[in-house]
Amino acid sequence: MWMYVLAGLVCVTASCRRNAREWSDPTPQALLTGPYVLLTGPEKALIAFRNTSRENATVEWKTEQRGGSQAARRQGDRYWVNLTGLTRGDLITYVVKIGGLKAGEGSFRVGPAADDKSGRFAVFGDTRTNHQVHRAVIEALAKEKIDLFLHTGDMVERGGKPDQWVTFFQIERPLMAKAPILPAIGNHDIGNRGYYNSHFFLDKWAKNSSYYVTDWGNVRFISLDVTIVCVRCREYEFVVRALEEGAAYDKTMVMFLHNPPYSAGGHGSDLQLRSVLAPLAKKYGVELVVTGHDHHYERTKPIDGTTYIVSGSAGAPIRPVEPEDFTASARTEPHYVLIDADGDKLAIRSVNLRGEVFDSTTIPPNPPGGPPPPPPGEPK
Ligand SMILES: [Fe+2]
Repeated sequence: MWMYVLAGLVCVTASCRRNAREWSDPTPQALLTGPYVLLTGPEKALIAFRNTSRENATVEWKTEQRGGSQAARRQGDRYWVNLTGLTRGDLITYVVKIGGLKAGEGSFRVGPAADDKSGRFAVFGDTRTNHQVHRAVIEALAKEKIDLFLHTGDMVERGGKPDQWVTFFQIERPLMAKAPILPAIGNHDIGNRGYYNSHFFLDKWAKNSSYYVTDWGNVRFISLDVTIVCVRCREYEFVVRALEEGAAYDKTMVMFLHNPPYSAGGHGSDLQLRSVLAPLAKKYGVELVVTGHDHHYERTKPIDGTTYIVSGSAGAPIRPVEPEDFTASARTEPHYVLIDADGDKLAIRSVNLRGEVFDSTTIPPNPPGGPPPPPPGEPK
């Protein structure tokens, strides 16, 4: 300890200061961020991390049947490995090595087995400022058995500050070690340096767009950017194609983005987004739209067959919610949401940091065009 303090006091050269930093690091080979996993295709994944040393980085991976080792590709301090030809259902475990030393590890699956329509997904968002709450959400979720998790955006307070991204990824590490992340961009994540896109390697697998589609078994996840309001622009056309295909294959469809089309919170409903998304949700039979931005929990009644959830309380300041006509359940405390896909249904459980399930429901399939009208004489 005293050696590090002394080193800090007497350092005058850049290399000395760098050495002092390295000495004070309890695990010298530790990665700056990650490793974490992005699902880049039906049988593909990208394992990513940031590393400030210039030593060779490799990823060793294995399943029960096979395994391999790949040198990581590198751009600046961003490192990644593309794994292809993976088998759905297989648990893949991996170790990241820097200069031959183990620097990180994790495990994941790229999907359920071919005939399996199940999966468990977690949702939370607006992690931003209160790292203690953010850490508590991650620690609670790391104890849950989940296949992947959705972040509804506003990961950091200021997207142009590189240190905030490092903090975000370091807090998320226990969860990222066991499940891929599906990110959605929030207004706070936007900075003038494109850190959101570079941290999620969107330039390597999503044409550098902050919207994409990922399937898990029978569930189709479509991540949106708020630029979707530009009707007939590139994102809109992309989303319509993803929805058309999802409807044709009878997928359970989940759209997720930062701003809420329906919210009874401080920001309230984004009516411009609603005017674009609600008709698409009805036309193609979207079961669930998940958002953040407002710092509370809210679930709507089904609206033309679609349920809308706001989950934005995993570190940002809690804000009040005053239920509106469309609100089925609302809460103002840190939480996360667990979604179980079971066949063509989605079972929702919303959990606070005391482990209490404060809201639950089951979402049935939503046929394209919305649900049929109730028989005459029955309430709508
Ligand atoms: Fe926001």
